[in-house]
Amino acid sequence: EKGGYDYFMLKEIAEQPKAVADTLLGRIDAAGSLTLDEVRISASELREVDKVVIVACGTAFHAGLIAKYAIEHWTRIPCEVELASEFRYRDPILDQQTLVIAISQSGETMDTLMALRHAREQGAKVLAICNTNGSTIPRESDAVLYTHAGPEVAVASTKAFLTQLVACYLVALYLGQVRGTKWGDEIHAVIRDLAQIGRQVERVLETMEPVRELARSLAHKNTVLFLGRHVGYPVALEGALKLKELAYMHAEGFAAGELKHGPIALIEDDLPVVVVVPSPRGRSVLHDKIVSNMQEIRARGARTIVIAEEGDEAVVPYADHLIRIPATPTLLQPMVAAVPLQVFACELATARGNEVDQPRNLAKSVTVE
Ligand code: M6R
Repeated sequence: EKGGYDYFMLKEIAEQPKAVADTLLGRIDAAGSLTLDEVRISASELREVDKVVIVACGTAFHAGLIAKYAIEHWTRIPCEVELASEFRYRDPILDQQTLVIAISQSGETMDTLMALRHAREQGAKVLAICNTNGSTIPRESDAVLYTHAGPEVAVASTKAFLTQLVACYLVALYLGQVRGTKWGDEIHAVIRDLAQIGRQVERVLETMEPVRELARSLAHKNTVLFLGRHVGYPVALEGALKLKELAYMHAEGFAAGELKHGPIALIEDDLPVVVVVPSPRGRSVLHDKIVSNMQEIRARGARTIVIAEEGDEAVVPYADHLIRIPATPTLLQPMVAAVPLQVFACELATARGNEVDQPRNLAKSVTVE
């Protein structure tokens, strides 16, 4: 049932190109527009939405953080993202014009379920992004967009994450499409890019052997840090979460701009720091900033593991290890940047003799509080 792989996690990582394609299936029409009729919230209701609030836990929360960048860019609707376990115990300000998006692979996470009940009690509409047909969260929501990743068995979420991102992009683009925005042309171009993204994930998977080797060489380390900016910041958080749960290592993700506000004090000789580099083509200011962050940490002895777009030569002098990913639009980069981090964590766990599919102390779906 593991399809020839040693672990479900490896199988699920490998399934990502297909999972991504399945999530897109039937949702882009021949004219290149989105058809999300299944969402069942009418176009006029979506036009009235004046705030989006995303609630989720763990990896699904990281997908939500990335969604915020996409939603605010393409729709200009303010978007907040909150851990479901915090949201449910607050007095959040919501009304009928608030669209709450609950993201959950299992559809059974107690905190996310409680957060959505809390939101509905106050009149907000809830859209679930979920992987498990007929589970509790979609049943209790006003609408659902299924991710169609297929069953995810490994505790560490991989293909569910990538398909959650696809679903989030679809919602953001759909909101933009329905409401009309000045980004109309860009939205069409991104829909085309999204249709290609599965192929790009496949290309990343074909080049992972050096990442595995690198992971094995770091198996004796105690700490790994992750840095990113913009949508690369949640990718850094996700890379760190994967390493914590699988390799039982101290791993932390930071927004690179925060370095000098504290975390840079952690840098010491030979400390591995993974840096997610934004595309130099998109917003070049982001790229330039992260190159100077790399200079700063390297001057203090960090061993940099740099994830950068093919053809980005500016990073070469500051990279002790370079992992190349295909060029994508800035907002879609997490789709390819997250993959090497999954492989990295899985291989490190194996090298440390840990149980990959069933890490200690963890359950696949957290149905308790
Ligand atoms: O089923 P859910 O998406 O609601 O689960 C949320 C988290 O428990 C989950 O993403 C968890 O963080 C994973 N083990 C991360 O790999």
